[in-house]
Amino acid sequence: MNYIEASGKLASCGQEHLLAYWKELSKKERSALLEQIAAIEPEDLRRCGEALGRDGNVPDSSKGKAPKVARLRGTALLKAIAAGEKELRKGRVAALLVAGGQGSRLGYDGPKGCYPVGPISGAPLFYFHARKILARSIRYGAPIPFYVMTSEANNAATVACFEENDYFGLDPENVFFFTQGMWPGMTKDGKVILDAPGHIFMSPDGHGGLLAALKRSGALADMKKRGIKSVFFFQVDNPLVEIADPAFIGHHVLEKSEYSLKLCAKRDPYEKVGMPMRFGSSYRMVEYTEMTDEQCNRRGKDGELYFKYGSPAIHVFDRAFLEREASKPMPLHLAFKKIPALENGKVVKPAEPNGYKFEKFIFDILPNAKRAAFLAFEQKDEFSPVKNAEGSDSPDTCRADMRSKWVGWLEEAGMKVPPDMPVEIDPVYALDASDIKSVGLMLFN
Ligand code: UTP
Repeated sequence: MNYIEASGKLASCGQEHLLAYWKELSKKERSALLEQIAAIEPEDLRRCGEALGRDGNVPDSSKGKAPKVARLRGTALLKAIAAGEKELRKGRVAALLVAGGQGSRLGYDGPKGCYPVGPISGAPLFYFHARKILARSIRYGAPIPFYVMTSEANNAATVACFEENDYFGLDPENVFFFTQGMWPGMTKDGKVILDAPGHIFMSPDGHGGLLAALKRSGALADMKKRGIKSVFFFQVDNPLVEIADPAFIGHHVLEKSEYSLKLCAKRDPYEKVGMPMRFGSSYRMVEYTEMTDEQCNRRGKDGELYFKYGSPAIHVFDRAFLEREASKPMPLHLAFKKIPALENGKVVKPAEPNGYKFEKFIFDILPNAKRAAFLAFEQKDEFSPVKNAEGSDSPDTCRADMRSKWVGWLEEAGMKVPPDMPVEIDPVYALDASDIKSVGLMLFN
């Protein structure tokens, strides 16, 4: 693209100001800016503008009903585990990690997956994910290909972290990195923001950017080639997640579901988690900000919260469903943020939010699933995210929860753990309490 083509393109979508500093730019800056302009789709800008016009509109969730949530016990649990184990043995399960976020609340300088969460080893979050995948694939004698979504900002550092750690024992052939897309930021009046005279402010397009990125990168085609049927989706910040848990995979398969969600009981009526609701024959994720006071506090006949369960973003997707959804446009969500912007040719870091970032959310494809399934689990067993630098959902709370889980396994195997003893278990040594029991017997007999 040259200057004339760029100015024609920008004029057609009311963004001519992006070339305002052209004369001051070096040759390198000019070609970088032209590259950015060439990558922008006018249709995307139109959709962003349209989304701005809807800012403040809250979707009506008043007619939403609580979904039917399965609690697997006894024979039903054994049946689901057997079905999931069959899928794992046949190599039909993949793990899909979204790790492209900016982790701004944690304030860690690097990809969040490199954050040293191991209570003793200081091993990174990626270590616990990769070692669980390795342990699960050893247990079932078939690889679980691992697809890792990064962003332009953290891709190189993420790949370097895996390389420096020998892929944590995984075969690099079974690890597939791919990068999510970026959207330009906009002012309230729909003008794309420059954060330097020759640079457009861009930010990652949200975890929903996953679908387009899976397709663009060839990851979806790779899954198909490998015969993958079920895709276990999880977030980078939760080292307690039971990746490719056979009961969940099995429940998904037995229910012939296209999109299955693990849900946990909310800790309080106002907990900030999304909540799937049923609207007629389909489901939609309702964000906590959309729920009325009445909905938050409504009780069922049993005295329990009617909207009892929230989603910690642990999903299983049918690969064919992801393929069907990958080419469809997704809704855009707005976040009003402080974005560095040019004022009279100088970059200013604003004290107050001044512009919008646009994101897509993966759960927006839930209404398109022909069948969906919901499975309850205990939060303390599987969910303790590292979101904030301190306080709730911080490295401290997460490490304490990791320790409690491991101590529980050790105690189940008959060991006594002093309260102040540090504990850390490599997932390849033990993936659950049953492994501790068998390895423990070997050690102590
Ligand atoms: P969060 O919503 O917690 O965002 O992401 P974040 O970027 O990690 O952290 P904050 O909000 O800036 O503090 C939930 C999951 O979605 C991924 C994150 O990496 C995390 O695993 N994510 C989020 C992406 O992969 N891409 C995005 O654009 C946003």
